[in-house]
Amino acid sequence: MVVGVSMIGAGYWGRNLLRNLQAADEVSLLSLCDTDEGKARRLLGEYSTVPVCGSIDAVLEDSRVDAVVIATPVATHCDLALAAIEAGKHVLVEKPLAASASDGAKMVQAAKDNGVVLMVDHTFCYAPAVRRLAAMVRGGELGEIQYIDSVRTNLGIVQPDVDVLWDLGPHDLSILEAVLPPDVRPAAVSAVVSTPSHLGRPASVHMSVRLSNGAIAHAYESWLSPVKSRRMVIGGSRRIAVWNDVDPVQPLVVYDRGVDPAGPDTGAPASYRSGDAVSLALPGDEPLHTMIGEFVDAIAHGCNPRTDGEAGLRVLRQLEAASVSHASDGGFVTLAAGEGDQW
Ligand SMILES: NC(=O)c1ccc[n+]([C@@H]2O[C@H](COP(=O)([O-])OP(=O)(O)OC[C@H]3O[C@@H](n4cnc5c(N)ncnc54)[C@H](O)[C@@H]3O)[C@@H](O)[C@H]2O)c1
Repeated sequence: MVVGVSMIGAGYWGRNLLRNLQAADEVSLLSLCDTDEGKARRLLGEYSTVPVCGSIDAVLEDSRVDAVVIATPVATHCDLALAAIEAGKHVLVEKPLAASASDGAKMVQAAKDNGVVLMVDHTFCYAPAVRRLAAMVRGGELGEIQYIDSVRTNLGIVQPDVDVLWDLGPHDLSILEAVLPPDVRPAAVSAVVSTPSHLGRPASVHMSVRLSNGAIAHAYESWLSPVKSRRMVIGGSRRIAVWNDVDPVQPLVVYDRGVDPAGPDTGAPASYRSGDAVSLALPGDEPLHTMIGEFVDAIAHGCNPRTDGEAGLRVLRQLEAASVSHASDGGFVTLAAGEGDQW
């Protein structure tokens, strides 16, 4: 089956989605929609025959369009997605799913009511490193998870309508969901932020997620760092995995090193294990290509995409809890039953 797709939003991230949609055999790109039609035309290039339009209304009237892919500012996600869903179109929307959990819940319900696929682009869930980490964690290779530590910083694009937590937080929270074992779930979230007065919104955040097994996952996310860092450490009782997404040579290294219980008669509080460090080979698959493949499979074969609307909604609930935390004293906000549930 070839799925007729219209792309909405020809900006920074839309460019990447467009390239992958154009390259996908199972996709027929029928139009590119942006309120700035000139920008859409320039993105397609002068030799493209793909039509451009300035409003989603034209897309929704086109019966050849089975699905829309939305890469517009966050504040517009809910209205655009609901319009598409109600017109019977399948929807793939950029992260975060919506600007609030209540909007996200409306989108999930509307997709159910209209029998269409709703999926969110939690891009990193499709990254080969995350798939490998999930297999290692869930296969017990790392042992019991003791901590997770992520740093996601650079001189990031200051978003017009969200703060750094809602911009970068979906990445870390969705990666957590992808890698944690089924019996470990987020139980509470806290956040503290730094808000430069000239930006008027949080631009650096320290977010902690207390996990149901007592471990802590922490993410430091910032738009203000001159150094680009995309590093996650997953500390297990047997091994520690370090994923450095900006290292093209050794992006994923597993250390057989750690702190073990000391023998009974040593009198020491702990003993140190210093074994091998193994650099893992990863396939070069582009995450957006894999994600678009899952979107098409969900439409054509009813397969359940790993980042469906419900997954997007769980992330929104955790972001809202983190926002409540940083608006008060930065203490932990307990997730209500279901909010951190993952599977
Ligand atoms: N998955 C990722 O790693 C990743 C990375 C960057 C951005 N994003 C997400 O992509 C989305 C867009 O971000 P961006 O940086 O590309 O923004 P952008 O501002 O560069 O592009 C947004 C585009 O949407 C257009 N637009 C706005 N309202 C519209 C409407 N109602 N109908 C049609 N077009 C409209 C704008 O004219 C603009 O061209 C955001 O949700 C952002 O969080 C995801």
